[in-house]
Amino acid sequence: MILVTGGAGFIGANFILDWLAASQEPVLNLDKLTYAGNLETLASLAGDARHTFVQGDIGDSALLGRLLTQHQPRAVINFAAESHVDRSIHGPAEFIQTNIVGSFNLLEAVRSYWNGLEGDAKSAFRFLHVSTDEVYGSLGPGEAAFSETHRYEPNSPYSASKAASDHLVRAWHHTYGLPVITTNCSNNYGPFHFPEKLIPLMIVNALAGKPLPVYGDGMQVRDWLYVKDHCSAIREVLARGRQGQTYNVGGWNEKPNIEIVQTVCALLNELRPKADGSRYEAQISYVKDRPGHDRRYAIDARKLEKELGWKPAETFESGIRKTVEWYLANPDWVAHVQSGAYRDWVQTQYAAQEAA
Ligand code: NAD
Ligand code: DAU
Repeated sequence: MILVTGGAGFIGANFILDWLAASQEPVLNLDKLTYAGNLETLASLAGDARHTFVQGDIGDSALLGRLLTQHQPRAVINFAAESHVDRSIHGPAEFIQTNIVGSFNLLEAVRSYWNGLEGDAKSAFRFLHVSTDEVYGSLGPGEAAFSETHRYEPNSPYSASKAASDHLVRAWHHTYGLPVITTNCSNNYGPFHFPEKLIPLMIVNALAGKPLPVYGDGMQVRDWLYVKDHCSAIREVLARGRQGQTYNVGGWNEKPNIEIVQTVCALLNELRPKADGSRYEAQISYVKDRPGHDRRYAIDARKLEKELGWKPAETFESGIRKTVEWYLANPDWVAHVQSGAYRDWVQTQYAAQEAA
């Protein structure tokens, strides 16, 4: 079995759903259920013995020790993190606590467990750390995309905390021999994305008739990857990636924010035209820029493509259409996130499951 941390969040939950759609190997899902953790995303797994949920903190050494000893995972995949840049600007403390101190405690618990393994179980074990392209800082317009050897130059409390965790993971390999792999991925989008991030926020605000807030001049560039392509990359890296290595994951889809917002509006004009005939673009509203806003990210994913043969299945055009269609087809998921009702799901659905 595998242990997934942060499996009630956007990418972790998509990863678990995809994993269990293709494999019988059970998943132990450890998630603190912060505001970003939503077990309603995993509702389709209710009653599925292959998924065990435990509410808990990656910083809780005693809990981790117990879970590792009891469940004997062959791998740990660490998605758990505070992930929103704007929140890190308003309140960095949680980012330091989970992304740095939490990652440290998790590494120590895993190291102790791994030291106790023997033979094949020990040599096959992997700790896969899921990280971000933001650790590399911001690119100028003509600069080459981030490769795995690009210098670390994080600019926000979020990216600095992720960079720190990457360094810890690297050091635990170099010093203690822990069989780690790190992935640094670009901006994800897709189903079950919390509507505080650009794409889902634009979809839900547009449908609610609210302003679509574009920071600054809207010309900041991000490299977008459909979440299920990120999940397939992680599966490949887990299966065949070399320990001690890092792999950049990206979709070769650099786009300025304003173009993303216009694309979302165009799809909504087509799929959910407004009764009064007005267009969603009219809701676009330029607002004050994010402090320290990184101008451009771009990922060079050639190492992953060449070494492991990974390729994204979706183009941006196909992925963004699927995403808008998903939000239109799942108004209840959105409504429960907006009302806070998703936070009751753990009581109603998982009361009988293992408690931390
Ligand atoms: P998310 O915020 O949607 O989910 C994070 C999950 O971690 C939540 O379920 C939350 O409850 C859980 N969590 C938070 N603190 C915890 C703790 N101390 N112990 C246990 N669980 C805790 O984030 P996401 O977008 O799914 O991102 C997952 C990972 O991927 C993060 O490490 C993030 O840095 C990285 N990443 C995200 C993107 C992206 O575009 N979203 C891109 C590259 C990398
Ligand atoms: O690059 C990977 C990173 O992508 C991940 O590590 C982070 O966890 C993830 O949140 C994401 O970070 P960004 O800051 O790039 O994502 P966000 O969706 O917050 O913003 C995308 C861009 O859109 C960014 O340039 C800021 C801008 N933006 C965002 C919001 C929420 C707006 O213009 N308006 C908005 O309301």
